[in-house]
Amino acid sequence: MKYDAQKFLVIKNEEIASGIFDMWVENRDISALAKPGQFAHILVPGKTLRRPISICDADKSCLRLVYQVKGEGTEILSKIKKGEKIDILAPLGRGFDIKKNKKYCFIGGGIGVPPMLYASKQTEKPVVITGFRNKDLVILQGDFRRDNCELYLTTDDGTLGRKAFVTDVLKEKLNEIDEVCACGPIPMLRAISQMCNENDIPCQISLEERMGCGIGACLVCACEVRRNDGTKDYVHVCKDGPVFDSKEVVF
Ligand SMILES: Cc1cc2nc3c(=O)[nH]c(=O)nc-3n(C[C@H](O)[C@H](O)[C@H](O)COP(=O)(O)OP(=O)(O)OC[C@H]3O[C@@H](n4cnc5c(N)ncnc54)[C@H](O)[C@@H]3O)c2cc1C
Ligand code: FES
Repeated sequence: MKYDAQKFLVIKNEEIASGIFDMWVENRDISALAKPGQFAHILVPGKTLRRPISICDADKSCLRLVYQVKGEGTEILSKIKKGEKIDILAPLGRGFDIKKNKKYCFIGGGIGVPPMLYASKQTEKPVVITGFRNKDLVILQGDFRRDNCELYLTTDDGTLGRKAFVTDVLKEKLNEIDEVCACGPIPMLRAISQMCNENDIPCQISLEERMGCGIGACLVCACEVRRNDGTKDYVHVCKDGPVFDSKEVVF
C-alpha cells in the first residue's frame, strides 16, 4: 500500500475544555475514506516524528481531531491557526468492525472519548458511556446527544454526571448489548475486557502505543498479543491495530 501525506486546511482549532482542543481539517480527497477507530498522523511544525490522533469524526470534506495538550508536539499543534495548512498522513490503521444489526455499547475514558463519536454514529440507538476524571475535562456531550444515543456521563469525583466508573454503568447494561467498543486508559480497558470476557460479550479495544512511522515500517509500536491457539505473537499497533479483539491483548 502506498502512503501519501496530504496537506489539510485548518478550518477550526479551538479549546473546548481545559487543555483539550477541537481541530477540524479539510481535504476532500481523504476525509471520506476515514473509518471509525482509524487515526491521523500529524506532522507538527518543527518536529520530526508525527503525532497520532484518532479520528473523532469525518464527513465528505473534513476530519475532526480532538486532542489534549500533553507535551511539546501537541502544544505546537494547539497554536496552529484557522487558515494554515498542515501535513497529515491519514486515514491510518485498522479501525472498529461495526455491524449494523448489533446493539453496541461504545465506551470512552478521558481523551479516549473522541473516537467513540464517529464509531457510535455507525449504528442506530447505541449505548454510549463516557467517563472523565472531573468536570473540567468533560467533552463532546452535546455531540453525542444530537446523535440519538443513550448517553451516560460519569466522573471519578462526581463533579458532573454520576460519581462512578464507566464499568459501573457497563455492568448495568450488560444484558442489553451485543458488543462493546472501547478506548481509554489501560486500567479501564483491562477492567472492561475482563467484564466482557466473563459475560461472553465480544469486545474491541483501541490501544495507544508510542509510534514512529505509523505505517508498519519500524518497530516502535510493537505489542504482544495472544492468538486463539494460546500462542503469543508481536503485532504493530499502527498497522494491525490500533483496534484489537480484547481477548488477544496481553495487558
Ligand atoms: C492510535 C493513537 C490515537 C491517539 N488518539 C489521540 C486522540 O484522539 N487525542 C489525544 O489527545 N491523544 C491521542 N493519542 C495520544 C497522542 O498521540 C499523544 O498524546 C501525543 O503524541 C503526545 O505528543 P506530544 O509531543 O505533545 O508529547 P511528548 O510526550 O512530548 O511526545 C514525545 C513523543 O512521544 C509520543 N507520545 C507521547 N505520548 C504518546 C501516547 N500516549 N501515544 C502515542 N505516542 C505518544 C509522541 O508522538 C512523540 O513522538 C493517540 C495515540 C495513538 C497511538
Ligand atoms: S509506528 Fe512504525 S511500525 Fe508502528
